[in-house]
Amino acid sequence: MAGVPLGRRGLILLGIETSCDDTCAAVTGDARILSNVISSQAAAHERYGGVVPEVASRHHLELVNPVVDAALGEAGVELADVDALAVTRGPGLIGALLVGVSTAKALAAPLRKPLVGVDHLHGHVAANFLAPEPLKPPFLCLIASGGHTLLAGVRSYDGFEVLGQTLDDAAGEALDKGARLLGLGYPGGPAIEREARSGDRAAFEFPVAMTRDPGLDFSFSGLKTALLYAIKDLDEGELERRRADIAASYQAAVIGQLVAKLERGLANGDWEAVALGGGVAANSLLRERTAELCEERGLRLKLVPGELCTDNAAMIASAARYVEALPYPRYLALDAYASAAA
Ligand code: KG4
Ligand code: ZN
Repeated sequence: MAGVPLGRRGLILLGIETSCDDTCAAVTGDARILSNVISSQAAAHERYGGVVPEVASRHHLELVNPVVDAALGEAGVELADVDALAVTRGPGLIGALLVGVSTAKALAAPLRKPLVGVDHLHGHVAANFLAPEPLKPPFLCLIASGGHTLLAGVRSYDGFEVLGQTLDDAAGEALDKGARLLGLGYPGGPAIEREARSGDRAAFEFPVAMTRDPGLDFSFSGLKTALLYAIKDLDEGELERRRADIAASYQAAVIGQLVAKLERGLANGDWEAVALGGGVAANSLLRERTAELCEERGLRLKLVPGELCTDNAAMIASAARYVEALPYPRYLALDAYASAAA
């Protein structure tokens, strides 16, 4: 990292992530995680069945200082010991992002610490650079979360190429909306996964979209409509009896498309390693099917633990190791951005 000295104890970074509904702070020493604190707001958003931006901003405002203090405390590090701060600039909910960016500036400026602005999606990729067994580029990375679904060609530590992406809903969004239709909780991915355990994934036929499309883009909005129609045909008692079967079949269709596109991405390139990122990468069916795919092809597969798939600040600190750090006072003008960076 430009301008930050590497001490004997390693490069100590404090990461902050507030792009959606988790308030996160973490301390890393080189590729090692010293602390990784995540305060989920899921309970606050559950009754709305999804993230409410204003509710998220207000919660971040209340939680960000205690979460940063907890991350420093657990790592046994003072703010003065930190070599640089790292913060998610976007994409995400603008009000939520501003809380993190302003906090990072306010903590860094009085101590004249450098600050690194990180792209959230680069963070999901960079979760794979963390110890133990950090993955080295090149690799093909499927990122599937509540806001994004894309295939990233990762050929260096400092960025990635988007090889394909969703044309409408994200995979996690399809699971969240599906769970809502099924009367399961929020976030929908884990709720559908739990329900699906006792269901038959062949019971209902949902379209696995885009598999005949020769490209690497994804689409999930038709699947949601298919679910809506499947449910409309059932009376309440039937829905109750068949909920697990529907959840299992719906989950299989979402994961089926992700795996099909990953397989096509592998066929189109010369990749020797595969990684997953984003909240949906915590899904056990996706992990199993990706493991099978890699085993058949003799490819290395990197699967980070679930808490590094969903939003966290350790991945932001990890990405920051490969992005230019801005010295004081240049970062005072650093802005957040809601949509993907140009
Ligand atoms: O990466 P993430 O924490 O936040 C965003 O950047 O969006 O991803 C959250 C998404 C939600 O849609 C949630 O339902 C989904 O990831 N998710 C899962 C699982 N855990 C979280 N989807 C499927 N299976 C899971 N176990
Ligand atoms: Zn995310």
